[in-house]
Amino acid sequence: MSEPVAVTLDKPADYAEWRAAARRLLSANVAPDRVGFRLAATSGDLFGTRPGRAARQPAPVTICVPQDFPRLAKAVICHSDNARFALLYRLLWRLQGERRLLDNAADVDVYKARRMAKAVRRDSHKMKAFVRFRRTESDVGEVFVAWFEPDHHIVERTAPFFARRFAGMRWSIVTPGRSAHWNGNALTFGDGANRRDCPDGDALEEHWRVYYSSIFNPARLKIRAMKAEMPTRYWRNLPESRLIPELTRSAQSAQRAAPAGTPPSVASARRLVAAQDGMNQEIVSSPQTLGALATGLQNCTRCGLCQHATAAVPGEGPADARLLIVGEQPGDREDLSGRPFVGPAGQVLDEALSEAGIDRDAVFLTNAVKHFKHETRGKRRLHQRPNVEEIEACRWWLGLELELVAPSVVVALGATATRALTGKPAKVADARGQPFTLSPETVGVATVHPAYLLRLQDKEKARAERAQFIDDLRGALRLVSAAG
Ligand code: URA
Repeated sequence: MSEPVAVTLDKPADYAEWRAAARRLLSANVAPDRVGFRLAATSGDLFGTRPGRAARQPAPVTICVPQDFPRLAKAVICHSDNARFALLYRLLWRLQGERRLLDNAADVDVYKARRMAKAVRRDSHKMKAFVRFRRTESDVGEVFVAWFEPDHHIVERTAPFFARRFAGMRWSIVTPGRSAHWNGNALTFGDGANRRDCPDGDALEEHWRVYYSSIFNPARLKIRAMKAEMPTRYWRNLPESRLIPELTRSAQSAQRAAPAGTPPSVASARRLVAAQDGMNQEIVSSPQTLGALATGLQNCTRCGLCQHATAAVPGEGPADARLLIVGEQPGDREDLSGRPFVGPAGQVLDEALSEAGIDRDAVFLTNAVKHFKHETRGKRRLHQRPNVEEIEACRWWLGLELELVAPSVVVALGATATRALTGKPAKVADARGQPFTLSPETVGVATVHPAYLLRLQDKEKARAERAQFIDDLRGALRLVSAAG
C-alpha cells in the first residue's frame, strides 16, 4: 500500500491554493484515497507536511476539467465541511477519466458537491439580505460596521457585493472567521473578531427600526414565508428585529381592524435612512434565479425610466456563462422585443464576437440599465444616455445578474457599463487595458460600445477601432481560458 500524503492548506477557502496543491497531487498520480487535507490553523500541521510536498517533484501533466468545474469548486471550497477539499480532489481525479461526470446529478460525489455549492450560495445571499451597518466614528471619520455570523467561509466571496452597493462609504463587516473592510477605494480582508469587539450601534439603528415598521405591510403578512426568508437566527443581529414580534401581533389584529395611519415620524425616518448612503435596502429577499429576476424586473420602479419604456429588458444567455457582456441600455428594437442586443449595435457586436472566436450563445448579454431611455420626436424614439441616478438605481439588478451567473470575465461596453460595474465615473480610454477586480472570481475589462463604432464617419478610423474592439474581445476570451 502506498504512503498516505498529507496536504496542509493555509487558507480555508482559497480555490487557487487548493488548485495548486491538487495539480501537484494529480501530476504525481496520487490517488484520492491516499490524500488527507488539513488546514494549517486547525491541524497544527499534523504531519509536518507543507502543501503538496509529496507531489512537488514530478513534471506536471495536462489536467482537463469541464468548463463548469472551476465555478462549482470555487463555491464548494467555501463550505464549512472539512471534507470539501478531499471531495473536490476526488472529483478532479475522476474527471480525468469520466469527462461527463458532472452531468450525472445522481453520482454521490457530484450530488454532494452541488449541495454544498448551493448551501454556500444561499449563505452568501443571506449575508446580502441581513447585514445591517451601524454608524461609528473612528480617527478617519465616519465608518459603518456590521456584525454577521455566516455558516460558511463566504466573506471574501460576498464582500464585493457590498463594495458595489455601498461604494461611497467606509465600512467593515466583521464575522467570527474573517472581516472585510472597504475604504472607498479598496477592499481588504483581515481576521475575524468577537461580537463584543464591534462598536455598538447609534441613532441609525433607531431609524432602521422606524423605517422597517413603516414598510411593514399588514395586508401582505405571511408569517411562514417571512420566517423562511428571514430565519429566526438572523433576527438577533437586525436592529429592526425587536419590532418583529410586536409588528406581527399588531398586524394580525390589523387584518381584522382598519390599518393604522402613517405615524408622523416615518417620513423623516425614511429620509434619514435613505440619506445614510443607500442603507434602505429592502428587507425582502432578492430573486434567486434568472427567471425570478426577469419577472421581478418587470415591476421595477427604482427610477422613472420604467414609465416610458415598453418593458424592462433582462439579460439573456446561459446561467453558467463564463463570459458576461454589459451594454449601456436597451435600444428601440430591444425595448420592443424584450431582448438585449438585437438591433444595429447588436449586429456589430455579433460580428465582432464571431471574429473573436466567441459564440454569442455561450455569452450572457445584459445592460447596465434595463429600461430604454429615449425622447420622442414625431414617430421616432431617440436614444438618450442614462444619468448617474438611473445607473445607480439599476446597479441592483446588474449586481444580481453578476451574482447569479458568476462569470469569470465581464466585458463592459462603454462608459455607462464601466461605471455601473466599478461604481465610479469612468472613461473608456482610461479603463481599457486595465482589468479590474469585481470579486475574487470575476475580473472586469472595459472596451468601447459597438454603437460608437457605428457612429464613426472616418472609414480608416472605423476599421482601426473595430479591429481593436475585436482584439479586446479576444483578450477577454483569453482571460476566460486563463481562469481555468
Ligand atoms: N445597446 C446596448 O447597450 N444594449 C442593447 O441591448 C442594445 C444596444
